[in-house]
Amino acid sequence: MKILSLELKNFRNYTHTSVNFTDGLNVLYGENASGKTNMLESIYFSSVFSSPRTTKDKEMIFIGENTANIKLVLEKKYRKHTINIQIDSQGKKKVLVDGVPVNRAAELLGVLGVVFFSPDEMKLVKESPQERRRFLDIGLSQQQKNYFVALSRYNHTLKQKNNLLKEYKQSQNVDDMLDVWDSVLAKEGTIIISKRMEYIATLNDSARKFHYILSGQKETLSLSYESGCKTDCETSELEQNLLSALRSSREKDKELGFSSVGPHRDDIKIEINQKDARKFASQGQQRTTALAMKIGQVVIYKNEIGEAPVLLLDDVLSELDETRQHILLDLVNGFQTILTCTEYKLSNPATLFEVSNGTIKTL
Ligand SMILES: Nc1ncnc2c1ncn2[C@@H]1O[C@H](COP(=O)(O)OP(=O)(O)O)[C@@H](O)[C@H]1O
Ligand SMILES: [Mg+2]
Repeated sequence: MKILSLELKNFRNYTHTSVNFTDGLNVLYGENASGKTNMLESIYFSSVFSSPRTTKDKEMIFIGENTANIKLVLEKKYRKHTINIQIDSQGKKKVLVDGVPVNRAAELLGVLGVVFFSPDEMKLVKESPQERRRFLDIGLSQQQKNYFVALSRYNHTLKQKNNLLKEYKQSQNVDDMLDVWDSVLAKEGTIIISKRMEYIATLNDSARKFHYILSGQKETLSLSYESGCKTDCETSELEQNLLSALRSSREKDKELGFSSVGPHRDDIKIEINQKDARKFASQGQQRTTALAMKIGQVVIYKNEIGEAPVLLLDDVLSELDETRQHILLDLVNGFQTILTCTEYKLSNPATLFEVSNGTIKTL
């Protein structure tokens, strides 16, 4: 799929601007703080319904204004779509897809597929498991609505269960209620875990290939799912295993005041040449690993959905040496890519856009 045009009104440092993108590589270049990441943020928001850098949606409104608007036109294999988003000063969002109001994130998630990569994404490898779960949750939610639905139900139930566990010391006899929550968690959690495992198995193949290339054919990446629940079993046994794990940790969880097992605590095990990259990866290894995982995500999306997502690469060239810059651009060749940088020196054919102080112009 590809984005044809984007129009922003009072979004971040853009008062009113519009731009037409082309197939292949689109390069947005300009000085720091000119608005390059802001533009990628608006595209990401149109896909995932949340910003990659803030949870306070109203921060995206031009300071002093009341509403921000994004209008994005995209083309898929069989049809065009228009996404209209308005964010108001309460942080409320109104979304229209082809003129029809969309009230739930689940309905927007399938419209525009994006994979976003920025230097911040290096967190993926070494920071807390939460980052890696987010990677899985966003990747899977974009391509499978039933994953997103299971995840929303799971999180909603988990919140209720944790509230109960927090208050448990005042109110005894919580076991009946915990039984109810646990059976919901086991049911939805099984969907989440089995889909994540499937996803990682596929990702392992493609990310490993990209990592091998990006590492100058020196390193082997290996990804696997790490769960607090016994997962080396038939899918049909998984729900029972998860339920047993929840039951066995119940007394401990009452003491802790929160639920300590389940997919909300799971992780991706990342190994480079059989060493745990989460602990030992160097800066360079973190970068190539995260990048390989993201490109792997593009490939999985393409295979699952039948067309490629749009790749948003924020400021990544400056982090790579020239050889890797070329490898990266070769790898993304064929996908619509929107890339930001301060200066574009490579010879790969690209449509160039100059971003300066909240304006953008095509060269
Ligand atoms: N809500 C907002 N209203 C007006 N300007 C904003 C808002 N949020 C961020 N900015 C401005 O946007 C600029 C940063 O843009 P950004 O896209 O991050 O830059 P870069 O081109 O370096 O990626 C800064 O000048 C910042 O002050
Ligand atoms: Mg930036």
